[in-house]
Amino acid sequence: MAISTGDFDFIRKLVLERSAIVLEPGKEYLVESRMLPLLHKEGLESIEILVGKLRGGTKNGLADLVVDALTTNETSFFRDIKPFEALKGHIIPDIIEKNKTTRELTIWCGASSSGQEPFTIAMILRNDFPQLLNWKINFISSDISREMLQRCRAGKYSQLEVNRGLPAMLLVKFFERVGTDWKVKDDLLKMIQFREINLAEPFPVLPKVDVLFLRNVLIYFDVEMKRSVLGKIKRVLKPEGYLFLGAAETTMNIDASFERLPLPQSGCYQLKG
Ligand SMILES: C[S@@+](CC[C@H](N)C(=O)[O-])C[C@H]1O[C@@H](n2cnc3c(N)ncnc32)[C@H](O)[C@@H]1O
Repeated sequence: MAISTGDFDFIRKLVLERSAIVLEPGKEYLVESRMLPLLHKEGLESIEILVGKLRGGTKNGLADLVVDALTTNETSFFRDIKPFEALKGHIIPDIIEKNKTTRELTIWCGASSSGQEPFTIAMILRNDFPQLLNWKINFISSDISREMLQRCRAGKYSQLEVNRGLPAMLLVKFFERVGTDWKVKDDLLKMIQFREINLAEPFPVLPKVDVLFLRNVLIYFDVEMKRSVLGKIKRVLKPEGYLFLGAAETTMNIDASFERLPLPQSGCYQLKG
């Protein structure tokens, strides 16, 4: 099903406005393939009819579904491993020392997709830092996609998903079998508050953050939007807080207030000074 230039342009602008995700010309194939399940679900015969409905504004929520379908949700437990080694080996021990009088830790995972990333962090906290058990932990995990947030809240993963990066010891400790799937145990699930937050919009009021994971999402934005998001991060991060970006992302040439920490391949930054 080939998409017309006009329909592609309409969807490209809609997605840009709502999520800041940039769909370059040449991504027509992506729109075509991602729209197929949505067309099927909505009982629509073509992208042309879908765009017609969007233009007419006749169906509430349809635009959200289009944006949802065009977000890339690739993720896995312990993705890229090094950031989590840095978290366990350096960053959490440092915060435990710094916050020992308040005994409070605030973590925000800002594009959590189907939840493997926040649950990885939660497992590290529970498994490796028993001393945090009587701390107040504010753990916010967010995404723009309602479908992904539903998956996070369900905490249910297939065998294939747990096979991607989750050590057997942690699987046994923190998950229980539900049919052929694995479900995060309640204790871990309850640590995290899942919220819908669009990074392209003003951030809601949040507690000042010790650790912010914002991995593999800036990559979809243009430079101006990256700069705008980093600007908002500066206001939400504690002065000595830590920011994790994805392996292909950087603050370099975008915002000079951050410096990369010498923790190899961790993608970890702090504010200068
Ligand atoms: C590739 S996943 C990254 C998941 C995880 N952080 C990781 O690195 O494994 C990108 C996520 O960013 C989310 N996203 C895209 N645009 C967004 C926006 N404007 N605000 C918040 N989340 C957004 C998508 O819904 C998707 O779940």
